Amino acid sequence: MADIDQALERASTLALNGPGYGPNPRVGCVLLAADGSVLGEGWHRGAGTAHAEVAAIADARSRGADLTGATAVVTLEPCAHTGRTGPCVDALTDAGIGAVHYAVADPGEASAGGAAVLRARGIPALLTPHAHATALTRRWLAAMTKGAPYVIAKWAATLDGRMAAADGTSFWITGEQARAHAHGVRASVDAIAVGTGTILTDNPSLSARPHGEEAGHQPLRVVVGHRATDGAKVWRDGNAVAISTDEPRDVLGALWQREVRTLIVEGGPRLLSAFLRAGLVDEVNAYIAPALLGSGPSVVSDLGISTMADALRGGAVTSERLGADTLVTAHFTGGI
Ligand SMILES: NC(=O)c1ccc[n+]([C@@H]2O[C@H](COP(=O)([O-])OP(=O)(O)OC[C@H]3O[C@@H](n4cnc5c(N)ncnc54)[C@H](OP(=O)(O)O)[C@@H]3O)[C@@H](O)[C@H]2O)c1
Repeated sequence: MADIDQALERASTLALNGPGYGPNPRVGCVLLAADGSVLGEGWHRGAGTAHAEVAAIADARSRGADLTGATAVVTLEPCAHTGRTGPCVDALTDAGIGAVHYAVADPGEASAGGAAVLRARGIPALLTPHAHATALTRRWLAAMTKGAPYVIAKWAATLDGRMAAADGTSFWITGEQARAHAHGVRASVDAIAVGTGTILTDNPSLSARPHGEEAGHQPLRVVVGHRATDGAKVWRDGNAVAISTDEPRDVLGALWQREVRTLIVEGGPRLLSAFLRAGLVDEVNAYIAPALLGSGPSVVSDLGISTMADALRGGAVTSERLGADTLVTAHFTGGI
């Protein structure tokens, strides 16, 4: 492998084998010999399992490689603390690694500082930015930086911005492809929140079924509000929680304590509007159906904005056709 940039690209691809949910980010690592050949590769498989560096060292050892003076190329700064596993800086030092390139600095309160530890031990540790490595840690980085879950506001709406018909029905606004996509996103996050209004109107199961069957990872189901929702489908097992509050920040605080790093707020309009008003939404996923209703609840209610200059505007906007529907994604990281 010729250069560090190529190795970071490979490490980013390896990282994608790890889960997108959980308290840890996806991380990949490639160990290079002086001639640029690959001695070992690894990625993080989720909280409680070996970090990418340790997995790559194990891979190299299983191939009988000598890592003395090797270069470690890793998508995230190696950690310097003992969490569920030991410090990666020690594993790298003990293996005889001669230099480290990392693409993203670790903002974690406990885990940061690994590069400084390595340098103090005489091992050059260079921050080497790489777009793909940054992209795959984007949600986790935003969460760790603000100390609250990364919030995706998701809705399905008609062309005229209605989330449900006047009689309250909202099932099947969008078609099969859009629904399958939304289920895939659910399978990549830690939690899904809805208000009691949605539970009492729709009684959704809030499961992740990207291919028609329940995914291996099911996000925590979160019901926000004071009204009783006993007997609703969301309570079918222990993977659900009720939070009796009107304050979106309390929801994020309670979920952060449960190690939730990514949250989808799926509605309905009152809960979505409360999160938007509070400036707590990092990303909007709007599934737009080519349908018109003319009446029924709008996606977003009063946000306290009365003039165009104050409109909330997202960046890094992308769109994707999903059958007859379109998914529009806009980023608001840093708070709306
Ligand atoms: N198209 C879609 O993507 C989609 C998705 C979900 C829902 N829907 C539709 O949305 C409709 C339900 O709308 P909804 O607005 O009643 O549902 P909702 O937003 O799910 O629930 C509203 C409830 O959320 C609680 N809540 C917590 N914090 C709040 C705050 N700061 N401000 C306001 N409410 C807060 C309150 O519960 P308490 O009163 O219990 O305290 C409130 O009554 C249904 O017709 C459903 O089909 C559509």
